[in-house]
Amino acid sequence: AIERTFSIIKPDAVRRNLIGNILAVFEKNGLRPVALKKIKMTRAQAEGFYAVHKERPFYGELVESMMSGPVVVQVLEGENAILKNREVMGATNPANAAEGTIRKLYAVSVGENSVHGSDAPETAKEEIKFFFTDDEIVG
Ligand code: CMP
Repeated sequence: AIERTFSIIKPDAVRRNLIGNILAVFEKNGLRPVALKKIKMTRAQAEGFYAVHKERPFYGELVESMMSGPVVVQVLEGENAILKNREVMGATNPANAAEGTIRKLYAVSVGENSVHGSDAPETAKEEIKFFFTDDEIVG
């Protein structure tokens, strides 16, 4: 089925001028951006977005890194978009990411792993709503 998922091109990748390269990987794999904007996250946004990780030891580092520079937030649409995006991103830790995936190609470490993507339909819906209004999404 055609689905929508939420994606972030993280500060480490934006800083290294990889926005175009990463979008090209998405598009080549049938994931079309139907909404996209460059923003600098506030502390409230970064903390709220990653609230599920609040108790993790890396939470503070994660929040700081997501606020460390601009990001590109986007809604990707395509066949099986949620799973497809996870495949295209590769494993969270680039050391474990498969050949050809975005994290294998571009990520530096588990903290600077270049992209975020929703892990399930329910989180995709919530994460899209966290950053986009309905009228910003243009199929
Ligand atoms: P992301 O998909 O954005 O979801 C949560 C993020 O936490 C994850 O990608 C990683 O960037 C980050 N993360 C996970 N584990 C660690 C860790 N051990 N140290 C630092 N950051 C981590």
